[in-house]
Amino acid sequence: MLATLPRMCGIVGYVGQRPALSIVLDGLRRLEYRGYDSAGIAVVSDGSVRTEKKAGKLANLEKALGERADDGIASGSTAIGHTRWATHGGPTDRNAHPHLSADGRVAVIHNGIIENFARLRAELEATGVEFVSDTDTECAAHLLAAEMAKLRADSAEKDGPQLLAEGMRRVCARLEGAFTLLAVDVQVPDAVVGARRNSPLVVGRGEGENYLASDVSAFIEHTREAVELGQDQVVLITPEGIEITDFTGQTAMGKDFHIDWDASAAEKGGYDYFMLKEIAEQPQAIADTLLGRLSANGEIVLDEVRLTDQDLRDVDKVFIVACGTAYHSGLVAKYAIEHWTRIPCEVEFASEFRYRSPVLDRSTLVIAISQSGETMDTLMALRHAKEQKARVLAICNTNGSTIPRESDAVLYTHGGPEIAVASTKAFLTQLAACYLIGLHLAQVRGVMYADEVAAVVSRLRRTPEKLRDLLGVMEPVRALARDLKDANTILFIGRHVGYPVALEGALKLKELAYMHAEGFGAGELKHGPIALIDQGTPVVCVVPSPAGRGVLHDKIVSNIQEVRARGARTIVIAEEGDEAVKPYADDLITVPRTPTLLAPLVTTVPLQILACEIAAARGHDVDQPRNLAKSVTVE
Ligand code: M6R
Repeated sequence: MLATLPRMCGIVGYVGQRPALSIVLDGLRRLEYRGYDSAGIAVVSDGSVRTEKKAGKLANLEKALGERADDGIASGSTAIGHTRWATHGGPTDRNAHPHLSADGRVAVIHNGIIENFARLRAELEATGVEFVSDTDTECAAHLLAAEMAKLRADSAEKDGPQLLAEGMRRVCARLEGAFTLLAVDVQVPDAVVGARRNSPLVVGRGEGENYLASDVSAFIEHTREAVELGQDQVVLITPEGIEITDFTGQTAMGKDFHIDWDASAAEKGGYDYFMLKEIAEQPQAIADTLLGRLSANGEIVLDEVRLTDQDLRDVDKVFIVACGTAYHSGLVAKYAIEHWTRIPCEVEFASEFRYRSPVLDRSTLVIAISQSGETMDTLMALRHAKEQKARVLAICNTNGSTIPRESDAVLYTHGGPEIAVASTKAFLTQLAACYLIGLHLAQVRGVMYADEVAAVVSRLRRTPEKLRDLLGVMEPVRALARDLKDANTILFIGRHVGYPVALEGALKLKELAYMHAEGFGAGELKHGPIALIDQGTPVVCVVPSPAGRGVLHDKIVSNIQEVRARGARTIVIAEEGDEAVKPYADDLITVPRTPTLLAPLVTTVPLQILACEIAAARGHDVDQPRNLAKSVTVE
């Protein structure tokens, strides 16, 4: 039988005094970006575990719950819920979580992969257990029920929450792979137990109630006090408390933190899509990321630094590892870091990094960029770097997530929650963070003086204002999007930092509009891709400032003429006042004047809006594009 493995999912648990169903459903709504091909819930109520689960989006589950006779599911005050993203095998009602033990008394939800599930399943089947789904998760439900039965047989204290925690520890000891598990047991009605290995889980601390979730947005409406869990830990929540142990039962400490954004930050706030809201939030997100970064003596302030200045002075090579949009921010960073620090900098897909034996040692600085802080490819690249004794610095938007926790230093982007699957404000804040790190390195190594650093920071600080102006004049881009909605392909070209911007513009269009799009270094076109250009082919050209590097500007103007001569429709993104490019632009979109290295902070924005509007015009789900999930927690 083909296994249907849940990979990146959203999970929520609640225990307290209030009806748990609506609290968990609200949490799932906020986590739906993590996966949306099925959803389910289990509520402990009146001596039963009552479940409902449905393939498709959360709306299907809500509809089923609405049609259900009142059997107590709406009133129980202990519940777990799940929203799922499957990799292969059809997402069906049967494979949706929660999964129940054979006697229906234990329910389990899961994010990750139980790698030894085939062996465990065979073992359980040999004892007479009949599986009702194709998932690996169901093993955990049967194992937990079996461990609970054994514990009850052996223990004087028959049904205490501690028994549930011990049962979970025993199950975890048998599992291989990456997992977050949450479970409830009908005989322990006021408790939810959770466990994590290489997969996210945070605790929300309430009053007379507590929460578990894949990320804090699930419970932010109820509490802003959270606890970060470590690797290989089991957490037991009851209305009265939170107890954390490692997998052997030793008491462990979580790390308390305060969430500094509120529930409204995770709502659409009047926009049609989260993506549009997040695009509009970019000026503030950049301002917040820059806030407080320059100390009184002109030094850049990182959030957590477990590296000395001497460590940074010893760096002789930088590798940036990241995926997707974060990788594109790394490509921009390479230009800035090499320019400011004169240290060689390579940028690699995190998914490729460790497979080619990169040359790393103590003097290598690896910068891992990740919005979620949970991307498995990036995490594995980071771990490989650490094994080779390299220093690792994380740029991350998610406090307490795995990547920053495992890094030697962290610079958090203060972008607030990014819900739309397509990354927008995360990209711009990653750029801002990369610039800060480049400046920090240059300063520590004595390549730039404090006043030079302050001058760049001051230019960076002016970008939110420029972005606000730019966002106010995007109507022509929307009109262009409506015009381009039926194009077969759109090409993007750029040079220098405009090249990663071209890649990012193409990625946005692919993931949202399901349209063929490619980004190219403009100079590379003549080496092959120019053959793609046909009469009317739209080519988006990202033009650098004529004021900065004049040669660069002249070269791309020539490239624009080359594609135009072959019939392309040129859509030119250029700086205000750039007269030289005007004659070659079929459509001209102007952006505010910005220094060359910082230009991606403004030139990317029209491309985000273009992709969003084309997707909407084509009738696609902008926030939850097909086949994707926000947080990719498998390799
Ligand atoms: O959470 P991360 O920044 O590590 O995610 C990396 C990529 O999966 C992500 O940027 C992806 O490419 C976006 N959906 C693109 O919009």
